[in-house]
Amino acid sequence: MDIGNKIKELIEMMTLEEKVAMIHGNGLFKTGGVPRLGIPPLIMSDGPMGVRRDFYDDNWIAINNTDDFVTYLPSNTALAATWNINLAYKAGQVLGNEARGRGKDVILAPGVNILRSPVCGRNYEYISEDPYLTARMAVAIIKGIQENDVAACVKHFAVNNQETNRLKIDVDVDDRALREIYFPAFDAAINEADPYTLMGAYNKLRGIHASHSDYLLNRVLKGEWNYGGVVISDWGAVHDTYEAVYNGLDIEMNVTTNFTEYFMADPLIKEVNEGKIEEKSLDDKISRILKLMFKLKMFDDNRYDGEYNTLEHKQRVLEIARESITLLKNEGKLLPLDRKKIKRLVVIGENGDRIHSPGGDSAAIKALYEVTPLSGIRMKFGGNTKIEYFKGYSSEEKDNDKILFDEAVIAAKGADAVVFVGGINHDFDTEGFDKPDLVLPYGQDDLIKELLKVNKNTVVVMICGTPVEMSQWLDMAPAVIHSSYAGMEGGTALAEVLLGNVNPSGKLPVTFPKTLMDSPAHKIGEFPGEQTVHYKEGLYVGYRYFDTYKVEPLFCFGHGLSYTTFEYSDMEVSKEEKDNDIKVIATFKVKNTGTVAGAEVIQGYVRDTESQLERPEKELKAFAKVFLQPQEIKSVELEFDKKSFAYYNNEEAIWVCEEGNFELLIAASSQDIRLKDNVSIYKTIKY
Ligand code: BGC
Repeated sequence: MDIGNKIKELIEMMTLEEKVAMIHGNGLFKTGGVPRLGIPPLIMSDGPMGVRRDFYDDNWIAINNTDDFVTYLPSNTALAATWNINLAYKAGQVLGNEARGRGKDVILAPGVNILRSPVCGRNYEYISEDPYLTARMAVAIIKGIQENDVAACVKHFAVNNQETNRLKIDVDVDDRALREIYFPAFDAAINEADPYTLMGAYNKLRGIHASHSDYLLNRVLKGEWNYGGVVISDWGAVHDTYEAVYNGLDIEMNVTTNFTEYFMADPLIKEVNEGKIEEKSLDDKISRILKLMFKLKMFDDNRYDGEYNTLEHKQRVLEIARESITLLKNEGKLLPLDRKKIKRLVVIGENGDRIHSPGGDSAAIKALYEVTPLSGIRMKFGGNTKIEYFKGYSSEEKDNDKILFDEAVIAAKGADAVVFVGGINHDFDTEGFDKPDLVLPYGQDDLIKELLKVNKNTVVVMICGTPVEMSQWLDMAPAVIHSSYAGMEGGTALAEVLLGNVNPSGKLPVTFPKTLMDSPAHKIGEFPGEQTVHYKEGLYVGYRYFDTYKVEPLFCFGHGLSYTTFEYSDMEVSKEEKDNDIKVIATFKVKNTGTVAGAEVIQGYVRDTESQLERPEKELKAFAKVFLQPQEIKSVELEFDKKSFAYYNNEEAIWVCEEGNFELLIAASSQDIRLKDNVSIYKTIKY
């Protein structure tokens, strides 16, 4: 019997109570099954940086097993900093394999919300401020996860861009910004990677809770995008039985343990019995869940077993960490450090010796291990360098900051080199809260200034999920590195970059503003809002704002240096216009002009020079990462299609790839354009 008929037959055999059991939480991370018909529950787990530790079904106390230590992956912003789609795919494979190995059916990842504000506490769980980069990485992660007979759960649909008031905030945003900025990653995920599940968001959109929004779930997701998977609510995001049933939600989850009282539990049975809700309105939900179970081979003997904590997984997270580390500044070539010349190295800063995996709430990971920067440095520098560590500052109030400060400065004075490892931690980068600002906490600015005064060979390493302010000392600092929670091998990768064993190739997936008030949402006073937050900046999120309005950032989107240099040349553009699409290919050469091997992230932006509607100054529409030996030249192709040139027309509710002239910008960052050429489109395409 084919699966469609089998599903129909199962649904016909089910009682109302059995159907309802399948569509709400019957444990904190599982639904109810139907034992009578051999239907198992769905077992879920967070989250993006690895498979979360196990909890009891009916309380939030961790079971404290010793068998749920796992591979701790780099954060999604770290992954995004690699700009390497193949690594995103590998990260997904690791996550999916570990989830299956731990017996999970659904892994609640990836998070793909846009980084609207640099202070959002969950930014590090998401990918980028740019919809194209977010979409490309998300598609690859999901494909990697689902190879393992585990469902990805792309989240949180939609406009969950802040933690402040997240359960009730009502987002007011126009259609064009939704379509051009906030939807593309979900759209691409659904259309290209088919995530078997999707999570609704906590917040409201235009007055309606996202997890039961007719517009979001029925009209856009299941209607326009033809989504055939299962929509799961965020935990506690459901507020009404009728809306949940009719507005496109398939499974209600919550943080409370009164499972039978969930909106889609006993209250639903009551409303069906009273004739207020039709029982058959549940059938589509059951059918979707059963279809998912068949896809995951949950009724088969040949379902993939999965594995966790494999050597291969460690190797992969190390590869990702290596490519995620971003060299922001390197004047006077302080980096890489020359081990031979460094007899005494002083490492300073709490993040040098701090483990981040257990923080961040639902993204917290019980890591098998986590190599801190200090251990990475000791491991890689070896025994001939005397390495001393000083905390320098402390996140704990009980410590005496003055003593920590003074001893660090004294130690730094005579050292051959100093590596300061600071930034923030998951007290700031966390679920449930946004950061108050971008100022470095715990008096780090003063300490960094002092260290730079007493020792010119001071490298500043910032560990943080998203930007921090650096203006107080950036001019004085010869070398600055950014690392965004790079997983269990993050310390190893950092040490390798410091020593030049690895040539850094990360580039920022987010603009670093000079101050928070330079960020669009903050500048216009539209963050975080009380009841409603108005996204009045519209399309002008991230570099779209900075570049259009000529606001100088601290570091622009796409910025990242290498220990070598790259030269771009010989750009040629070919174009083919068909009835319904267009294919533009930019071909050019990239040469490694230095003496060490390295990788360059090449970004392709489109600038619409004549448009009916106002558009951002440039938009990322293609990228590639190219690995080059010293003096090696490679020919690179970036491809663009109608989507690369189109804008969304609110009034006609249609995408328009408008005739006229465009510029293709081939760039090393959003502000470092290396090559450009014109393209003319002769015929408008609407779709
Ligand atoms: C988060 C989700 C997470 C869920 C389950 C919620 O608070 O917003 O991202 O998957 O909890 O832990």
